[in-house]
Amino acid sequence: MSIRLEDRYATSFFTPAELAAMEREVKEADRLLREGKGPGSDFLGWITLPKDYDKEEFARIKTAAKKIQKKAQALIVIGIGGSYLGARAVIEYLKSNNYNSLKKDTPDIYFAGNVISADAVKELFELIEGKDVCVNVISKSGTTTEPAVAFRIFRDYLEQKYGEAEAKERIFVTTDRARGTLKQFSTEKGYETFVVPDDVGGRFSVLSAVGLLPIAVAGIDIDELMSGAASASEQFTNPDLSKNDCYRYAAIRNLLYRKGKTLEVLASYEPFTAMFSEWWKQLYGESEGKDQKGIFPASVIFSTDLHSLGQFIQDGTRNLFETVLDIEDTGTKFTIPADAANVDGLNFLSGMDMNKVKKTAMEGTILAHVDGGVPNLVVKISERNAFVLGELLYFFELSCAISGYLLGVNPFNQPGVESYKKNMFALLGKPGYEDLRATLEARLKK
Ligand code: PA5
Repeated sequence: MSIRLEDRYATSFFTPAELAAMEREVKEADRLLREGKGPGSDFLGWITLPKDYDKEEFARIKTAAKKIQKKAQALIVIGIGGSYLGARAVIEYLKSNNYNSLKKDTPDIYFAGNVISADAVKELFELIEGKDVCVNVISKSGTTTEPAVAFRIFRDYLEQKYGEAEAKERIFVTTDRARGTLKQFSTEKGYETFVVPDDVGGRFSVLSAVGLLPIAVAGIDIDELMSGAASASEQFTNPDLSKNDCYRYAAIRNLLYRKGKTLEVLASYEPFTAMFSEWWKQLYGESEGKDQKGIFPASVIFSTDLHSLGQFIQDGTRNLFETVLDIEDTGTKFTIPADAANVDGLNFLSGMDMNKVKKTAMEGTILAHVDGGVPNLVVKISERNAFVLGELLYFFELSCAISGYLLGVNPFNQPGVESYKKNMFALLGKPGYEDLRATLEARLKK
């Protein structure tokens, strides 16, 4: 198995009987999920997506990716939350967190519409200057403010630069199959469109066109990614905790939560996982943080953050546990050079592969943090490639769903996200929000 859970650094924080007692709850969570009887069961399409996807659309994604690669030196991916995090996570994980700066024969990929910042837009215009550009706008609802504003800006830019007919060839839209203003507008304009499946929520959509088109543009083998996810969908079906690492992860994190560990730190030793951690944080944070419940998901990159948050993890408030991503073979080696003068006294490292030093740092850190009262779970990832990443994405999606049911929430909705939107619309003067506007302005004393 390419993805395995090592729990021996967490087992001193609970008893075998406590974990065994979770088994019954996990079986029930599994039943609810597999039979579609739990809350949010309209959004279970991601379970079978790695196998039951639209093959005709998949072929179109590959053709569109080739077209974008041919036409553009820069692709602007417009979307927020689940509409961009998965693609960005996969591209950076498999290519690099410095993807745009690499020497490569695929376009640069910029992400827009995930922030409300004049500076970010202005900077993006500078970055794409002199480059041929395509746009992939991704919004299931089609009405989310941040991407809608960015799409206005970059659609206008493309139309000014190339004229309407050529702009049409450079705009690719990923949205609802039939509903919504973006779908309607795309049909009117004649843009090529891809589908966010009805039964797949944003944060579970990386293996749909939402993630796959930008990922394919970056030159990543999307067949391998899907095969990996399909393989994981077969591996992690047995509700027996001793046979299912994915479910055991869900069970242990809930057990730790019930013992007061309300914050989970996802730790990795590779910078290329930074955006993967952002994807993971959204997946767990938006799925579980509701009804005044949930584990707050945080992330660190070690050893960088051992020199910033390391102090807190070792010694601060004892309400946290860590989940460590251990990528056993990244495919790269680098030998630490010798220094005849041994100025830094580090010649005991001369000739050593940097991976060995990293692994040792990881082992030492895990033991130190366990000694400091922080349970550590280790997710072992055999290799860094598209197949294994597909498995990993599915591992976390499935464990998140099971974990949400163990917690007693609907993991597939996000009612809390609406609150800021309502207030923002009211304060910006959107018609229909007049009463709320008056109340909010009084509170802000405008
Ligand atoms: O996970 C989710 O459902 C959200 O993060 C959405 O993806 C995000 O709010 C963007 O929504 P939309 O794709 O409708 O613009």
